[in-house]
Amino acid sequence: MTRALVFDSGVGGLTIADELRKAAPDWIVDYAADSGFFPYGVKTDDELRERLPRLCAALVDVAKPDVLVIACNTASTLSLDAIRATVKVPVVGTVPAIKPAAEQTKTGVIGILATPGTVRRAYLDDLERQFAAGKIVVRRGTAGLVDMAERAVRGQGIDQEQVTYAVKPLFDPPHGSQIDIVVLACTHFPLIREAIAAACPPGVRLIDTGEAVARQVMRVAPSTPRPPGQASAYVTGGAANRAAMQPALARFGYHVIEVIDV
Ligand code: DGL
Repeated sequence: MTRALVFDSGVGGLTIADELRKAAPDWIVDYAADSGFFPYGVKTDDELRERLPRLCAALVDVAKPDVLVIACNTASTLSLDAIRATVKVPVVGTVPAIKPAAEQTKTGVIGILATPGTVRRAYLDDLERQFAAGKIVVRRGTAGLVDMAERAVRGQGIDQEQVTYAVKPLFDPPHGSQIDIVVLACTHFPLIREAIAAACPPGVRLIDTGEAVARQVMRVAPSTPRPPGQASAYVTGGAANRAAMQPALARFGYHVIEVIDV
């Protein structure tokens, strides 16, 4: 049996945990949210570089997974190598789905919707050079959508007008108006997929990385003999954060929530 630990700044990684549980129903899929340091998308690179390897090492120590899944584009596009160098289990990251988008676009123009951190990463420039040569890639970074997704999963509703306000500039002329595929390059965004779709012009398709990440996790994860067990969730930021995260985690089947002090 395999035990995976899926990690994100907040509730976004639950979209990846969900895909993994669908693909591997007999696995134990633990979840960790760095809710005490959320949101990552507006943190400086230095702040994240300092925190992520240290935090992941602490999480792996406590949860003892066979595989660690960084279910966060903002973290993966900055610190995947540093995390891999620090923990002793295989690490799978989540990075923007530029390759499939470049293969599938008919207009040759792709939109990337991500956090402000992810849109300015050199990692994204490299992905574009490698997989989208000859295509036009339009990027939009928004921290607002992350907050909206977080609130929606905590049961606080979605304001369609605010979602539309956050998404619309992606489609500004001259290039935005030709976009036919939008990459949801933040794991929070599939949580409000319908609202984002409603904010896009008709005919625009949305793609994300959930299924591809789940497949990659299954390819690299070793299996360790262990008795069947219950999945746990971990949060940072003390008891107040545990209480705030509880409704969202419960919706995704996590009822045991431990506070980690990092
Ligand atoms: N879910 C994260 C991502 O995929 C980031 C959200 C945040 O800003 O913390 O990029």
